Amino acid sequence: MKVGVLISGRGTNLQALIDACGAPDFAAEICLVVSNEAGAAGLDRAKRAGIATRLISDRDFPDPKSFEAALDRALTAAGAELVCLAGFMRLLSAGFVERWRDRLINIHPSLLPAFRGLNTHARVLEAGTRFSGCTVHFVRPAVDNGPIIAQAVVPVLPGDDADSLAARVLEQEHRCYPLALRLIAEGRVRVENERVAIDDMGAPGGVLINPALESVSVRPAQTREVC
Ligand code: GAR
Repeated sequence: MKVGVLISGRGTNLQALIDACGAPDFAAEICLVVSNEAGAAGLDRAKRAGIATRLISDRDFPDPKSFEAALDRALTAAGAELVCLAGFMRLLSAGFVERWRDRLINIHPSLLPAFRGLNTHARVLEAGTRFSGCTVHFVRPAVDNGPIIAQAVVPVLPGDDADSLAARVLEQEHRCYPLALRLIAEGRVRVENERVAIDDMGAPGGVLINPALESVSVRPAQTREVC
């Protein structure tokens, strides 16, 4: 399966996809990497891997429609059958999303549908949730919305700040995105009634509790004074 990747920045998820596609039995190859930012380090990653790159900056177009038309032309000309958003920080219009319906996927650094949008990790910490994670999903017109393909969970730990949590989540992003791409490229992913069904998937493991049960020592019950 030929895959186009859209990026805006450092491209560590792109790198994870490049590395995965390097395996001889991996059913996808990246045919084009497009960045909307000239300085995106991800462009160098693609070039180092011998992958075609394009800079298509929204600033060079009079309106979003012509910018998206240029994206569409580049992806189509490269033969892309699937498009992966990997840290692509431009919102895409409903027209573009519908044109690539079920052929456009995204990774987001939270357990969707919680914490859509920007500043995810700071908002997770603010909310005090015990777990966070990442989600790979098919893209729908509403932001960070669409049928979920794969998720990974990480604990939120005491003392975390947005950077430490982001790093823990990112490590799992680099596992989840190649997994989702592999499943799609192998033809095992179907969207049915806006939910994803995956053929031949084993059952996931057991329950996770945070704080871990073993880490919580038992305290004697407090005696309360009765007036
Ligand atoms: C990743 O954490 C990705 O999940 C996030 O941007 C980062 C890109 O990093 N995407 C979004 O927040 C999209 N809503 P990368 O350039 O190193 O892959």
